[in-house]
Amino acid sequence: MPRIGLIGCGGMGGTHAAGYQRIADAQVVGYADILPDRAQAFAGKYGGNAYPSVTDLLKAESLDVVDICVPTPQHLPVAMECLERKIPTIMEKPLARTLEDARKLVASYEAAGVPLVPANVVRWFPEFVAARAQLSAGAIGKPAVARITRGGREPGGTGNWFGDFAQSGGVLLDLMIHDFDWLRWVFGEVERVTASSLMAQNGEKGRDYALAVLRFKNGVIAHCEGTWVHTDGFRVEMEISGDKGTLEYSTQYPFPLKRRQNATEDTPAIALPESPTLEDPYTKELREILKAVTGGPAARVTARDGLAALEICEACLKSAACGEPVTLPLP
Ligand SMILES: NC(=O)c1ccc[n+]([C@@H]2O[C@H](COP(=O)([O-])OP(=O)(O)OC[C@H]3O[C@@H](n4cnc5c(N)ncnc54)[C@H](O)[C@@H]3O)[C@@H](O)[C@H]2O)c1
Repeated sequence: MPRIGLIGCGGMGGTHAAGYQRIADAQVVGYADILPDRAQAFAGKYGGNAYPSVTDLLKAESLDVVDICVPTPQHLPVAMECLERKIPTIMEKPLARTLEDARKLVASYEAAGVPLVPANVVRWFPEFVAARAQLSAGAIGKPAVARITRGGREPGGTGNWFGDFAQSGGVLLDLMIHDFDWLRWVFGEVERVTASSLMAQNGEKGRDYALAVLRFKNGVIAHCEGTWVHTDGFRVEMEISGDKGTLEYSTQYPFPLKRRQNATEDTPAIALPESPTLEDPYTKELREILKAVTGGPAARVTARDGLAALEICEACLKSAACGEPVTLPLP
């Protein structure tokens, strides 16, 4: 059974820790967080040892896999420390805060021959998996346009790092990477983007809203909306039209009656999309990626996919900043 070290015991660390509890052949043996109480709380709840730093975790435990759930700007330094010990790595999305950092990260792992897989979870959401299958089966003929909306209230995050554009990249990076990655999985490479966002243009703190239009090499146009300005919950909507029909999905539909309420002290810091399936997509994702990084078959997403998705984000950020369309690939 692979011995896992979980780094970062905040919002996503919690989702991953709970996910591993549901995977029969997974064992988290150590938790690291610079806020030691958090690592202690995870160790107490799920079993395993707690450490106040990555260095302490790596020194004390013999690990087969690390799973990195720290804030985005910490992805590169934390992963490089794990790479020194050649530990296969599961990385929360995005791979890094900048394309330059992500390229460095992927090149270093590839040069060392150590597996690195980003947790781009939308590839495991059943409705997105089904939409991709229908599209490739020709269910709506030749697809022409796609529209995706994703978002909810502004995420908390430790020290409100999401609300700091320099750290999170706002919704164009932190949130919309999910859709950019899925769209690229379905439609192939992006040729050109045009985007605007509150944070990228105005340096707005805390809240962000963005629109991006992606033109794919195959001619498909995708209109993406990302928001942290809804007051509660999390919603995802998707509509794809082709010459023979339309596919539609909305998180508003699967729930016959949905209660919405303002955030309270007990509300998690981040809102995540819900899925009305028996097993949540995060657990499905971790099971597949864990197998992939420990010698099993490749996962449906690779480090190169993570890099390509981040490149679309960075092109959008550039477009939002300069007010002009930006052509890919970026230099
Ligand atoms: N896939 C998804 O749906 C999804 C959703 C939310 C966040 N994320 C991603 O997950 C990552 C973490 O986000 P979060 O919401 O869990 O943030 P968070 O602020 O809730 O938690 C981060 C934790 O990491 C700890 N930490 C910070 N630096 C550290 C370091 N150097 N070593 C060890 N611990 C450290 C913090 O103390 C905190 O407990 C981000 O990259 C974010 O973009 C993904």
